Amino acid sequence: MNDEPLAWRYYAAALSAALLPALLAALLVWQVRSADYASAGRSVLTTAKGVAGDFDNTFEQFDALLKSIARQYVDGVESGSEEKPRLIQRLQEELANIPFSSRVFIADSYGRLVLGGGAAVQYATTGVSVADRDYFARSKAGEQGLMFEGPHRAKFGDEQVIVLARRLEDGKGGFLGVVAGSIPVAYFQTRIARDELDPHGDIVFRTTNGARIAVHSADPADPADPGGVGVSEVAMMAAPASPALFQGREGQTLYQAASPLDHIDRLLAYQKLSHAPFYLLVGQSTASVDRSWRRLASELGLLCLGVTLAGLWSARRLHASAVTLRRERSLLKQRIADRTRELEDSAQELSAVLDSVVTRQESDRRRIARELHDRLGQYLAAMNLKLGALERCGPDVALLKSGLSDLKDLTGAVGSEVGRIAWELRPVALDDIGLESAVRHFIEEWVQRSGLRFDLHLALKGRRLPPEVETTLYRVLQESVTNVVKHAAASAVGVTLTTSPNDVVMTVEDDGVGFDVDEVSRASPRLGLRGMRERLAVSHGSLDIESRPGGGTTLTIRIPLAGRAP
Ligand SMILES: Nc1ncnc2c1ncn2[C@@H]1O[C@H](COP(=O)(O)OP(=O)(O)OP(=O)(O)O)[C@@H](O)[C@H]1O
Ligand SMILES: [Mg+2]
Repeated sequence: MNDEPLAWRYYAAALSAALLPALLAALLVWQVRSADYASAGRSVLTTAKGVAGDFDNTFEQFDALLKSIARQYVDGVESGSEEKPRLIQRLQEELANIPFSSRVFIADSYGRLVLGGGAAVQYATTGVSVADRDYFARSKAGEQGLMFEGPHRAKFGDEQVIVLARRLEDGKGGFLGVVAGSIPVAYFQTRIARDELDPHGDIVFRTTNGARIAVHSADPADPADPGGVGVSEVAMMAAPASPALFQGREGQTLYQAASPLDHIDRLLAYQKLSHAPFYLLVGQSTASVDRSWRRLASELGLLCLGVTLAGLWSARRLHASAVTLRRERSLLKQRIADRTRELEDSAQELSAVLDSVVTRQESDRRRIARELHDRLGQYLAAMNLKLGALERCGPDVALLKSGLSDLKDLTGAVGSEVGRIAWELRPVALDDIGLESAVRHFIEEWVQRSGLRFDLHLALKGRRLPPEVETTLYRVLQESVTNVVKHAAASAVGVTLTTSPNDVVMTVEDDGVGFDVDEVSRASPRLGLRGMRERLAVSHGSLDIESRPGGGTTLTIRIPLAGRAP
């Protein structure tokens, strides 16, 4: 199983961490956008109300003038004193007081102009008929209040005008004619084009049926459009816009749509005039409103992208160090496991060594018991027999002497047998005379006992080795020679002993039958070779066996000397 930390978890964490700033940025942008739209909406609405109020004023002021003229005219007619020159003069004075160029006239009940004045009326207009005009027909039919007509071309001149008219009545409600006046469309056009309205790209003054009276078009969102008055778009030339434009917008003064003027999407405020049947539409392009939040969005977007990239980079580094950490941890675990196993193995080996030591001790004890029983027992039994014979032999001196001599021989044999056994158990010579002499003594014994030919090459030159090394080598030699005698059927044995500053090396070589070392190491339950190895292991030494069936055997024993007390 691959237990390395999964990379995607780190990247997912980095991405989730980046998500929060992204959400906050989106929220911020959304709020900025809402605030921008609210403020643009307020501004458009204020402008629409302002312009509509301004235009309302114009109509109200002009209507007041009409009423005042009408009152003077009716008073004059009723009093029978029609002083036209004076009336015309007063008319001119009043017209001069209103801030826009216009004309005012009165028609009698037959539709003939009886009085007229204003900028464009420098001559007598009496006798010219207005009876065909709509407002005359309507007032004659009894319509009260202010009437509007136009915009249309003026009767006296080329300009486009809006006509306002009122019915004239005598005290009993009889029809006396109409008082009418006109305001040039150019006046509204100029008013709309005032500088302070410029930030709004689209201002349209319309009649109720959608025809444009005056237009101002400048898109602040479009730097290529410097703005200005759409003079070519005035009044009647414009096709009436569909009334559907305003449908469904009753009571809704602010809305977002494509402008009917240039089809650019705008925030539009729609405002009715209260003194005239006209509408005003003010619009600002949404692109200009969107500009600020879009810039903010792109800046924050770049920032979020940066945060995300930085997060991913850190995730990559974190993942890499987590992987390294995990690997090092598992390596450490592996090492601990190995070391534990080694310790367990050592403990097992130690226990095996202890077992083998105990077993060897037992086997040594058995051997000593056997030797004591077989050899000493035999001599002691013989001595016992001899002593019994001496008891029975009486005073025969010759017999006594011969018996005592036999007993002396037997006692000597017992003594040398005890010495031999003691030597085997612990060669005194080893402590007193050193390894080299002990080996010579040991080999001499075996020359006599076995009849083998020994070839010694001992090169210690009298050097003493640490006691435990000498004992180990001696015991290993004992076992090696015993094995040769027991198993090899050899005729010659070579023993060498050499030292260097670092180690001591002993070889025991025979020309016997040899054996399969692997087979014996694997299968033999015997203790000799195993005991040798264990003894050597305690001294940090090694045993190397070279042998093959029929080819003799060579044992090489090496014990390091470095770091040992001499
Ligand atoms: N020099 C040798 N020549 C031929 N065979 C040998 C020699 N040394 C050892 N062997 C073989 O290796 C075997 C194992 O030897 P090892 O000393 O371990 O046991 P052993 O001598 O049989 O019994 P003991 O436990 O009494 O020593 C022997 O039984 C013998 O077959
Ligand atoms: Mg043996």
